[in-house]
Amino acid sequence: MNIAIFVSGNGTNCENLIRYFEHSDQIHCALVISNKPEAYALVRAERLGVPAKVINKAQLNDSDVMMPLLREYEIDFIVLAGFLPLVPDFMVAAYPRRIINIHPALLPKYGGKGMWGHHVHEAVKAAGETETGMTVHYVTPVCDSGEIIAQYRVALTPDDTADDIAEKEHQLEMKYFPKVVEDVLSKFIIHC
Ligand code: GAR
Repeated sequence: MNIAIFVSGNGTNCENLIRYFEHSDQIHCALVISNKPEAYALVRAERLGVPAKVINKAQLNDSDVMMPLLREYEIDFIVLAGFLPLVPDFMVAAYPRRIINIHPALLPKYGGKGMWGHHVHEAVKAAGETETGMTVHYVTPVCDSGEIIAQYRVALTPDDTADDIAEKEHQLEMKYFPKVVEDVLSKFIIHC
């Protein structure tokens, strides 16, 4: 199966996924797509030899741009790894239960508009939460609302700063996200 990884920023998850599946016979990271030309994820993809494309907002929302691009790379499945724009409806329809997203909190808490990256960890800190975590979920046209596939938790202490919370949560992402992707994809591979 060919996967496309959609990114907007640093790309630590993107790199982790590419490395995890590097020697897989069945899962191939075929394309990285960024909506930000300056995203460091693009540098990581290039270093790892994965083709990368930059798209602007109009292109993302144009099925005559996106569908041929996804077809060109024979993309079967899409992983959003720190991708901030909403996925357009036509893509959700074209990839039913084949687009998943990682979110840096325990959804449904701390999801929705404006809740991304450090904003999430600052909100978790401000609320005095005793735990946080990561969520992987199917993507629907409504932000952060699709069916939850997996969640992993980590305890917080009152001394943890927003940066500490971010670091603890990031460790979960590095440890668990590729395996969750693999588990979701293995269901497709068995049924192919
Ligand atoms: C990750 O923490 C991911 O959970 C989060 O963006 C970060 C991307 O980091 N996603 C969201 O906030 C989506 N709402 P990375 O670019 O280093 O992988």
